[in-house]
Formats: sequence, C-alpha cells, structure tokens
Amino acid sequence: MKHYYFGTNMKMYKTTKNTSDFLTGLTGLLHDFHSDKLTLFVIPSYTSLEAASHILKESPVLLGAQNMHWEEEGQFSGEISVKMLKDLGVSMVMIGHSERRHIFNEADSDLNKKVLCAASHDMIPLLCIGETKREKDTGVSDEILRMQLKQDLYNFPKDKLKNLRIAYEPVWAIGVSGIPAPAAYVGERHKAMRKCLKELFGESGSRIPLLFGGSVNPQNAPEYLKETEVDGLFVGRSAWDAENYYDMVKTLFFSRNL
Ligand code: PGA
Repeated sequence: MKHYYFGTNMKMYKTTKNTSDFLTGLTGLLHDFHSDKLTLFVIPSYTSLEAASHILKESPVLLGAQNMHWEEEGQFSGEISVKMLKDLGVSMVMIGHSERRHIFNEADSDLNKKVLCAASHDMIPLLCIGETKREKDTGVSDEILRMQLKQDLYNFPKDKLKNLRIAYEPVWAIGVSGIPAPAAYVGERHKAMRKCLKELFGESGSRIPLLFGGSVNPQNAPEYLKETEVDGLFVGRSAWDAENYYDMVKTLFFSRNL
C-alpha cells in the first residue's frame, strides 16, 4: 500500500498566537492519530516556528519552514540558515514555492543550491514546481516541469533520495485567484514528472513522493487522490483552520484505514 502525505503551507498569514491556537486545536483533534502510512505536516511562518515546535514536540505532525538560504552561515542579512531551522526542531523545508519563484525571482540555480544544502543536513526538502498559465496554454507544461526537476535536482545525492518530496503546484491554480486544475490534467503531469525522475534516478525515482497542490479543497481532493501518481496533497487556504485540516485528513485518509 502506498504512503500518503498531507500538509499545509500557511504563507504570510498567521501570527505566533494564531499558529499556536491552530496547532493546539489540531494536536487535540489528532490526539490518538498514529500511522505509518500517512505523514502529516504543517509549514507556518518563520516567527511561529519556535512556538510550533514546542506544541508539536510529542505529535506525529512534522514541522516545516517556508524557505531557507543555501549557505550554513555568512554575510546574508535577512536570511535563515538550515542550522537555524534545525536548532528549532524543523525537519522539512519548502523550496521553490511559486510565490518565491515569481514574486521574489528565485532562480533554478539557487533553488538547486538550497535543495542540496537541505539534503546534506538531512532536512527534508519539499521542492515545489509548476508551470504558468502561459506555459500551459502554449503546450509546454511537461517541458517546464522537466526543466525544473533537472535543474533543481542537479547533483542530488542518491543516498538522500529517501528524504526528497516534490509538490506539483501549477502557478495558475494557486491562491485566491487560482483556478482548480482538472484531476486528469494533474494525473498526466504527475506521470510526466515520474518519467523524468526515473530518467534521473533510475528505479529510486519511482519512489519519490509526488504531492499535488493548488486550490485543493474538500470537494476536489478525492479526485486528485484517485490519480495513480499522486501521493498526497499540499493544501493552502482550505487547511488553515484546525477543524478543516482534521476533517480533510479524516475524510480522505481514515476511510482508507491509514
Ligand atoms: P491554495 O495554496 O491551496 O490556497 O491554493 C496552495 C499553495 O500555495 O501551496
């Protein structure tokens, strides 16, 4: 049976108090949850990480950060390093979210350095990739996904592949003005990504978890999970309330005995 993943990125919305309330509620709802077939995670803002780490200490929910620098330390004012994140009990880091790529102009060459830095510190990199609307409309989605995978995972060490997670998030499907992607379209892109990962890493490429994100909600989520290469969901707005997060997990996964 395959392993599933479910998590949320809380972007720049919640204060430390908001995050603490959310996680206290969520851990309460999940008090008897334990599964070796489902990994749950939450990615709050940097300023909430210490409080979040404290609340999640005894919980199975993994704590992630929204970004990090590619160097361990140095003259990089305003940046956060992998050591600082580990120090706070963070075990996962999101790299290359569409907002980082498109608003902050993060380049694939820099994202590659971040992914490699995370891997070398045994931090779980959650690499986010996805095409823009124009790239979709001009029929180059798979080419874009392949280019992002090849560049961002360049020189990725094979012995760290077990830590790597990838989230496919079409830029046009994300956020308040996003248009939910048809499940069949998502399934095709996941197949293309899987093919590329096998080319890059051989059979190990077939085991790298591929999550889907972008306007996922309780109504469309079951359809995405039916696609064979979708190993989990990466959710924004629909999971920012503890009960909504818990309800999605319960409806989508507990019914599968996970
Ligand atoms: P959304 O966000 O679910 O609110 O579209 C997804 C994301 O940005 O990861």
